[in-house]
Amino acid sequence: MTTIAPDIVIEHDAELPTWFGIGGRADRLARPETPEQLIACLQADPKLHILGDGANLLVDDDGVGDLVVSLQRLNKVELRSPGIVYAEAGANLPKMILECVRQGLRGVEGLGGIPATIGGAVFMNAGGAFGQIGEVVERVHVLERDGTARTLRRGEIKFAYRHSGLGDGRDNLVITAVEFALKPDDPIVLRQRLKEVMAYKKDSQPMAERSAGCAFKNPTLAADLPGAGVKGSRISAGRLIDMAGCKGLRIGGAHVSERHANFIVTVQGGRARDVIELMDEITRRVHDQYGVNLEPEVVVWRR
Ligand code: EPU
Repeated sequence: MTTIAPDIVIEHDAELPTWFGIGGRADRLARPETPEQLIACLQADPKLHILGDGANLLVDDDGVGDLVVSLQRLNKVELRSPGIVYAEAGANLPKMILECVRQGLRGVEGLGGIPATIGGAVFMNAGGAFGQIGEVVERVHVLERDGTARTLRRGEIKFAYRHSGLGDGRDNLVITAVEFALKPDDPIVLRQRLKEVMAYKKDSQPMAERSAGCAFKNPTLAADLPGAGVKGSRISAGRLIDMAGCKGLRIGGAHVSERHANFIVTVQGGRARDVIELMDEITRRVHDQYGVNLEPEVVVWRR
């Protein structure tokens, strides 16, 4: 171990916990405890990667050379004023959802069952059939890569399907905290809603197996596709991959889930390369059969 600023410890050759449970390690990993320490990390390596919950992440087998920063110690959640919940980027989304339901605050219960940190979820505008997190974001506190702090109001953030714009271009902002605007409601009603959302997921997704959730974004059709949808509509990538006959397809330690075709499931000892090759094969088959270009939702870190 070494240090960058006097009080920030750097772990070397550190394991990176991801939901896939496979993949390479980080040459250097830091776990800042304050925003000031995070700024010191940015000054040490402006290209650093932020590790959230590892729920949507694949690390290539060769690992990562840039500094990796885990925000797990920046995880405060507070009710600031009526209906405004302030959450640091490393806070756990499922825990915050439960707390909001308990407190009778409506707006995030539709995101039940999504594993993520607050920063990761907002950065990629996580969501599903019951809403996207961007819908309830009021303000986002960020750091620029030179360490300058800024606060963005919701109107300044370009939320779209699985997209916040916060990582676009040269900016590639680092989220430090998010404020959510929620509405009062009956905790019993909210709890029931959360239960329904979780039940839907449990029925249709392989939640007990190791995966990063949906591997591909749902594509928008460039032309009518009989049996799937009309031009301009966004359709389920899982349905399309299923139609292309990919369920059960296997490369090494990775296979396409039989339950939901947009889930790639890994087994112990599998390689990140297996997942990458399987994703390439799925992309090729769907393109060859239906002319649709699938875009990965899973983020891949490479050296
Ligand atoms: N379907 C199939 N075969 C499959 C999978 C789905 O025929 O293998 C059909 C289903 O029967 C259903 C339709 O496709 O008629 C849509 O399926 P689903 O409700 O599972 O929704 P999805 O569009 O495939 C999206 C999100 C999920 C989210 C679910 C439910 C994306 C890429 N996926 O999936 O998000 O959990 O809705 O809200 O937007 C994730 O982003 O990691 C993720 C899992």
